[in-house]
Amino acid sequence: MAKGEGVFLLGTQSVNAQGHLEIGGCDAVSLAEQFGTPLYVLDETALRTRCREYRQAFHTLKSDVQILYAGKAALNLAICQIVAEEGLGLDVASGGELYTALQAGFPPDRIHFHGVYKTHAELQMAIDAGIHAIVLDNFAEMERLCALLSGNKRQGVMIRIAPEVEANTHPLIRTGQRDSKFGFHLLTGDAFEATRRVLQEQRLQLLGFHCHIGSQISDLNAFAAAAEVMVAFAAEVRRATGFAAACLNLGGGLSVRYTAEDQPPAIAEYAKVVVDALRAACDRYHFPEPALMVEPGRSLIAEAGCTLYRVGAIKRVPAMEPPDIYLIVDGGMSDNPRPQMYGASYTAILANRAHLPHDRLYRLLGKHCETDPIIEQAWLPEVHEGDLIAVLTTGAYAYSMSSNYNRYPRPAMVLVHQGTARLIVERERFQDVMRYDKM
Ligand code: LLP
Repeated sequence: MAKGEGVFLLGTQSVNAQGHLEIGGCDAVSLAEQFGTPLYVLDETALRTRCREYRQAFHTLKSDVQILYAGKAALNLAICQIVAEEGLGLDVASGGELYTALQAGFPPDRIHFHGVYKTHAELQMAIDAGIHAIVLDNFAEMERLCALLSGNKRQGVMIRIAPEVEANTHPLIRTGQRDSKFGFHLLTGDAFEATRRVLQEQRLQLLGFHCHIGSQISDLNAFAAAAEVMVAFAAEVRRATGFAAACLNLGGGLSVRYTAEDQPPAIAEYAKVVVDALRAACDRYHFPEPALMVEPGRSLIAEAGCTLYRVGAIKRVPAMEPPDIYLIVDGGMSDNPRPQMYGASYTAILANRAHLPHDRLYRLLGKHCETDPIIEQAWLPEVHEGDLIAVLTTGAYAYSMSSNYNRYPRPAMVLVHQGTARLIVERERFQDVMRYDKM
């Protein structure tokens, strides 16, 4: 492809002889004609490749590692099926995610249930399904769970620790710092107290400890720091109680490529830092090396997804600074709220003339009734109404965070693989948006 300013391709993306973007061997222009726009396109090969890279990277360093996919990044039946086939476990963060996983036939013994407030009904669903672990976040939940375990039923649990590690990322997606709402804090003594109570509780089987320091993190030192804190805590618990945690889950959080400037660490590099840090800490604290779990969401699926939009209007505006040409597309904050919520950056490709240099500057905006930029500075060839734009790296936290704002029906999702496109989420219709309304 003729490289313009900061344009790149991901996964199986290429540019075909017609100058069209191709994903999974499918022409993006044909996908848009067949399935409409906006359209979430998921590259099956790219997703499976990432799953395999994760397993391979960790398993060459350590045999007892389990990779759990963090379903909050994007979850539906087809994604569950692929992740299960690739041998990964699953982190669910709500009753809805758990329900989806169970409906997809995801093996319950590979499911972990997270969240800061799991209701009675959610806990009951998890118990009934026989999932591997409920990750306890607070004392109230621990009591609710015990009350639900009747007879001599036992439930595997992990304890979520707030490790007081400050990761360098957007404040709204930082989760392991001193003032985090998640988990039992070390500094208050709650982490230790929670462990003591779980160990005394016959109905709970403590499998180990969990932490998650945040998301879109490029500085690998933060993961190493979390590993160190977790081993130190596990060693302290062993000294005080004799319980040696057989497993530590260090969460997810690895960053991905949204723009040409992003330089996310390779999975192999990340795996090495985490495993080395775990081993070094175990040596230092004379703690038997536990099994390891990691829980990537974004870094498994973000780059496998892109969104196709149709340009509906082009405006020249008297802006004080460039870009002064605005492209209005047929989606926006209802299919991807990340630019508005976090000021997140993305990269676009003109899918129907992808071969041209992307050397003109535009502002790409959504169609909602407020200013909803998708890309503040998008480099594209000359754009005309009706052109097709692909926004890259939308596989994580776009579909899963979508809404019906302005009563827009949500887009469809297609899974592309070796020239075949399969509809895995149907496009919503107006009737769907109105489905639960009552007069
Ligand atoms: N484990 C736990 C307990 C989590 O809370 C999360 C993400 C993950 C794993 C996966 O993290 P990842 O590998 O995807 O970074 N909506 C935000 C991201 C929120 C992340 C929430 N927790 C965004 O769009 O950037």
